[in-house]
Amino acid sequence: EINFFFPVEHTLAAIKPDTLEEHRDEILEQIQNAGFSLSQIKEEKLSREMAEEFYKEHKGKPFFEQLVDYMCKGPCLMMILSKENAVQEWRSLMGPTDPTEAQKSSPDSLRGRFAKSVLENAVHGSSNQDHALEKIKFIFGDIDLNMMVHEEEDSEK
Ligand code: PPS
Repeated sequence: EINFFFPVEHTLAAIKPDTLEEHRDEILEQIQNAGFSLSQIKEEKLSREMAEEFYKEHKGKPFFEQLVDYMCKGPCLMMILSKENAVQEWRSLMGPTDPTEAQKSSPDSLRGRFAKSVLENAVHGSSNQDHALEKIKFIFGDIDLNMMVHEEEDSEK
């Protein structure tokens, strides 16, 4: 018997504050329909310090303060999404950062549907695999990602 394994990748995804109140179920449904495994999920209101650390790559940019304020104004839904090529797949499900562009190029994407502005853009996702692992650790602590996927495979049998 030959077993084929596809390389599961993980990304850190978030539903941002206002959007969580308004569109939680629709977004979770779209995530499921796209074939992601929802490996971990928790609702968390970030402190200011945590939000600054979360977005440290953007420190010094003109929109940094606004972005931090927005992200900690209420609870976010933090998720680890797992799938082959998860980082890129989640980014394409989100659509472009700017909703004007998202509505034009990918109206069915999450930002095409739910983003209000480049700041209030509904969802977040890691931009590459290194960031994904770093942000997963930052939000969920030192969890064993390989273990998690095996448990999931076992429970499907
Ligand atoms: S960058 O500079 O290209 O890395 O920026 P980008 O990837 O497009 O966006 C990174 C996050 O910054 C937010 N953003 C803004 N907020 C407010 N005002 C302006 N002008 C602005 N531009 C970018 C944007 O919502 C991105 O947040 P995340 O959570 O990563 O989607």
